[in-house]
Amino acid sequence: MSNLFRQNVQDMAGYAPGEQPQGGDWVKLNTNENPYPPSPAVVDAIQQAATSRLNVYPDPLAMGFREAAAELFQVTPDWILPANGSDENLTILIRSFCEPGSQIVYPYPSYVLYETLAKIQDCRVERLLLDSDFQWEPQSAAAAAAKSAVAFVPNPNSPTGNRWTADQLAQLRPNDGVLVVDEAYGDFADTPHRGELLHDERFAGRTILTRTLSKSYSLAGIRFGFSVAAPELTVGMQKVKDSYNCDAVAIAAATAALQDQQWMLENRQKIIATRTRLAAALEPLGFQVFPSEANFLWTQHSTGQHQTIYEKLKERHVLVRYMTFPGATAEASLADGIRITVGTDEQIDRFCEAVAEVVGELS
Ligand SMILES: Cc1ncc(COP(=O)(O)O)c(C=O)c1O
Repeated sequence: MSNLFRQNVQDMAGYAPGEQPQGGDWVKLNTNENPYPPSPAVVDAIQQAATSRLNVYPDPLAMGFREAAAELFQVTPDWILPANGSDENLTILIRSFCEPGSQIVYPYPSYVLYETLAKIQDCRVERLLLDSDFQWEPQSAAAAAAKSAVAFVPNPNSPTGNRWTADQLAQLRPNDGVLVVDEAYGDFADTPHRGELLHDERFAGRTILTRTLSKSYSLAGIRFGFSVAAPELTVGMQKVKDSYNCDAVAIAAATAALQDQQWMLENRQKIIATRTRLAAALEPLGFQVFPSEANFLWTQHSTGQHQTIYEKLKERHVLVRYMTFPGATAEASLADGIRITVGTDEQIDRFCEAVAEVVGELS
């Protein structure tokens, strides 16, 4: 068959999302979901939307949600753009700011979807290689950013879990483009932050924050994210989104979730406490555990047998994320490893039992 696809699509590999086993008794610690259910207020809001709103189109601007998010970030609603999951934020950003042939830059290893989306748009990709402390070299960063239409920075980063400072992020501001700070894990950071960066004069007018409801608000199944940016950026990005990108049930759920901050913060605290416990349990088993400000830990085992550990855990119905980063700086801490999502205490107990068995079999 002749090649019907655009050449760049033909040439690229698609993004491979984490495994989502349906059914069965799995300890699922592979895609950074929240192990706790969403607020009961969210379930009520879904029920109400499902009984009263399904025959008409949703509000294309999701004004109720924008107002709730604006209050949280202490901006006006015209700073907020809702999206069908934060992945859609990223798609909107690439389509808004990148011409075919433009360049994007992002730290590597991090969220490889940036690269996939850039390739779909036929853009060039510059990876900013991280060193063994998960830092970039400031001069290389500035040089790469200078040539880029978009710089993407997940903060905290995935899979490494570290968080960069505002001074470091400033090194990645493009001269003639935008800086996207992807705060998918922002609510888990040690110091809570809600958009302060946007009011720092180094970032004003050229910076977009993205957030998701999938992690801290326990709504991965709903698909809802949003961006926060100055109104002149938001209004432009609005032209690019699908007319009804967020459905009525999702808008109702996401709005109720933001309005129950106490629920989110209590789950955040539980996750952080379990993260400390998990790190302490892994170290005696030969794992190096890197400090994390997110709801997961990046780990490496002294045997280096990460793929085997992942497979043996999977045989025991425990799913973690084995990750490999071809072309990463030749530092052992970046080439490959295992990312473990922080689950409930009970899930982590089951994980610890399984991993102790697996490690015992290796030696
Ligand atoms: C860094 C980062 N950004 C964005 C997303 C996408 O989140 P969503 O579920 O809202 O599409 C993820 C999901 O894992 C992520 O890890």
